[in-house]
Amino acid sequence: MEKKRILSGMRPTGPLHLGNLLGALANWKSLQDTYDCFFFVADWHALTTDYEKTGDIEKNIRQMMLDWLSVGLDPERSTLFVQSHVKEHAELFLLLSMITPVPWLERNPTYKDQIVQLENKDLSTFGFLGYPVLQAADIIMYKAHCVPVGVDQVPHVELTREIVRRFNFLYGEVFPEPEALLAPTPKILGADRRKMSKSYGNAIYLSDTPEMIGKRVSEMVTDPARMRKKDPGDPGVCNVHSFHALYTPPSRVEEIALACRAAQIGCVECKKIMAENLAQGLGPIREKRAFYESQPGLVEQVIVEGDQKARAIARKTMEEVRRVVKVD
Ligand code: TRP
Ligand code: SF4
Repeated sequence: MEKKRILSGMRPTGPLHLGNLLGALANWKSLQDTYDCFFFVADWHALTTDYEKTGDIEKNIRQMMLDWLSVGLDPERSTLFVQSHVKEHAELFLLLSMITPVPWLERNPTYKDQIVQLENKDLSTFGFLGYPVLQAADIIMYKAHCVPVGVDQVPHVELTREIVRRFNFLYGEVFPEPEALLAPTPKILGADRRKMSKSYGNAIYLSDTPEMIGKRVSEMVTDPARMRKKDPGDPGVCNVHSFHALYTPPSRVEEIALACRAAQIGCVECKKIMAENLAQGLGPIREKRAFYESQPGLVEQVIVEGDQKARAIARKTMEEVRRVVKVD
């Protein structure tokens, strides 16, 4: 039986952190066992909000690919590529834009949210309004069945389904309707207990050394109600404890939680144990990164080969699309 196809993408916004690992990459990695996976760097998407500063994009693309390889995305099994290297995405985007009603885009909740949240950016562009159409093109180009995304992206997959139905109705059954694939993700916060994010400066990066991890963990906010070591703490509200739950052996987690509640362990010591386990847990990622960095040109080669595989499929899809739309 043929494997079902998965596709997902990420904007090249900078180095990836633990939030990205636990929220997406760990899931992508395990999907490789059961699906035919396509993962791509969405560099054109980065332009929809950051068209003024494009200088870092190229560097960020390579860095993102290196992060992906480090966590175990496997170029032998998955197609790893860069969106702008497959120009067919732009052509399909153009054709889909012809059949997509503007109100569908104006209704899009992420459009409305981001206009409010990113008030310091100029989002009054055609490209920003239309980027879910580009995302639809990304997905259906490969006739993906499932799209692993976070909840914030579900409306875009829904919109893709609507566009697919309209396309198939107008021109004939070409595309399957993709489904969003939501994976349960552990709740992990940044050092200041806000959502972990590069822009908040509260993140632990996949490329951090054990020393940097130790330093970042030592700065983490714990149970805010625990002022002194002799006050009992509540692991249930402590972000350090959430990390323990992921990176410390369960029996030890139990012990530490009890000691915290009984004011028998201080936060400094607790953090130290956690930082060590976290650094150890990320060890295999650091090792893989070191391997890929030690071979000059290897990351570039992975990209070239992924691009080629993606392009071969995109070319076929577009031949079919041009034929049914009758703009051959
Ligand atoms: N829009 C997504 C984001 O901002 C990235 C993305 C672009 C994507 N094209 C995609 C995700 C296709 C899944 C499928 O995170
Ligand atoms: Fe959090 Fe550990 Fe301090 Fe308890 S001892 S509040 S679990 S950091």
